[in-house]
Amino acid sequence: MKPVFVLKFLTAFTLCLTFISGMYFLAKSSEDAELKVHAKEYPIGGKVKIVHDTLKEPEAEGAQPPPPVDDVDNPDAEPAVEVKDSAPTTSATKAPTTKEPLKDNAHPPSIQIFYYPWYGNPQVDGKWFHWNHKYIPHWSKTADGGLPPDHSPPADIGANFYPELGPYSSRDNKTIEKHMKWISAAGIDVVVVSWYPKNMSDEQGEPWDTLMPTLLDYCESFKLKLAFHLEPYKTRSAESVRNDLVYIIDKYGKHPALYRMPPKGKAKAQGKSDVAVEEKTKELPLFYVYDSYLVDTNDWRRLATSDGDVTIRETEYDAVLLGLVVKEQDRLEIQKSGFDGMYTYFAADGFSYGSKMDNWPAMSEFCKKHDLIFSPSVGPGYDDRRVRPWNGINRRERNNGVYYKEHFKMAHTAKADIVSITSFNEWHEGTQIEPAIPFKDANVTHYDYIAYDKGPEQYLEITLEMVKTYFTAHHENIPMQIERIV
Ligand SMILES: *[C@@H]1O[C@H](CO)[C@@H](O)[C@H](O)[C@H]1NC(C)=O
Ligand SMILES: *[C@@H]1O[C@H](CO)[C@@H](O)[C@H](O)[C@H]1NC(C)=O
Ligand SMILES: *[C@@H]1O[C@H](CO)[C@@H](O)[C@H](O)[C@H]1NC(C)=O
Repeated sequence: MKPVFVLKFLTAFTLCLTFISGMYFLAKSSEDAELKVHAKEYPIGGKVKIVHDTLKEPEAEGAQPPPPVDDVDNPDAEPAVEVKDSAPTTSATKAPTTKEPLKDNAHPPSIQIFYYPWYGNPQVDGKWFHWNHKYIPHWSKTADGGLPPDHSPPADIGANFYPELGPYSSRDNKTIEKHMKWISAAGIDVVVVSWYPKNMSDEQGEPWDTLMPTLLDYCESFKLKLAFHLEPYKTRSAESVRNDLVYIIDKYGKHPALYRMPPKGKAKAQGKSDVAVEEKTKELPLFYVYDSYLVDTNDWRRLATSDGDVTIRETEYDAVLLGLVVKEQDRLEIQKSGFDGMYTYFAADGFSYGSKMDNWPAMSEFCKKHDLIFSPSVGPGYDDRRVRPWNGINRRERNNGVYYKEHFKMAHTAKADIVSITSFNEWHEGTQIEPAIPFKDANVTHYDYIAYDKGPEQYLEITLEMVKTYFTAHHENIPMQIERIV
């Protein structure tokens, strides 16, 4: 090749490269701008905002993997694992659909479930909360199906499924009792309750800290424990979270139903003496910190490492803190922050690095190596189209329970320390396992709520079946059978 030609070629090549990267950054910044517009339209601190924020992760990284168990749109698709799915309660002790060795009883993981006490109705609360989910328009896409701006319960609720208990109030003791009875009977041992500081809540509801004593009491009567799921708010910082921990531990720390556990391997990792080890393995209250990445790692270090200026370590407010993994990098940030472990929350497989269940074994290895607790979050599916009609891409079909079972199986394979279930009753996102019924009221809405294939209790029954198959139930179930409402 002649040098002149090479030079020409190089120039052309460089020009091309510049053009391509220019286009890329243009596209990227318009994408960022778009995301910022979305973020602005969201209520601050609410779950809605957060889920949407994290939505950008797979997009930004160009990684939108096809959801592996989501091919039920194609009715001819072969069911992934299911061979025969007989009535779940009776099949609870039957061999699972896998040939792997089952119980690894050395460390039966605790089975925990995310619980939302944010629903309200006029009978109990004077007005609707959450069931009437206020519609948040997407900036560029119009709602499909001509939905009204806000939902109007009881017939039209902000969910794709309809609760068997109807649009209930979370403050109704009868409802709480039924919930705890169901959760307990499903082989779950800890209820992880969404919590905002006193006098704070998300934008769809009103503060519910005052409800915590009642929830603790009902947990106790059904041999359940309660842990707190700390929700983010506008002014959250390491210091404000310390205040929250102080408040919670002072106020609820003596309740027998508050869940406590030893912080995994911490003492050993820090090479303390035997006395210190004993002191360290004292059981501490567990907190899940939702969207922990919103607070800077250096700020978290002030709270969660022993030389931080507002540290909880070795004080009466010491606790086990789990951070949320969305991106791969979050694992390192959580570790650097001084947290005790991590969880993944999102029930839409592949929605984020953390929620992609194929990543769980590697995350588990990472945690093991760094003496951290690993709590992958399993879920029955995901469907939030009635509150975010544009978000169909993240829908995950339940596939008659197959999706949920796959999640449990992977939690077992990945040797989870804690299995967290998303969720008992996050109806807006369609991750609930709470009993749902088929429902239609053509006068109010033409929407046909989705029914569970095998009846309202199907997902409680599958939960029990999975706990018995892969793990060990932590207590004698009360009642022994999942209650049916007639
Ligand atoms: C919280 O709300 C209660 C009842 O509405 C009120 O009495 C109290 O002053 C509020 N506290 C704060 C810190 O806003
Ligand atoms: C609901 O139950 C709690 C805990 O048992 C109790 O303290 C409270 O008074 C009950 N509320 C009503 C309205 O009965
Ligand atoms: C729907 O409207 C029809 C006609 O007005 C009425 O007869 C029927 O009772 C209504 N159904 C419900 C469930 O409200």
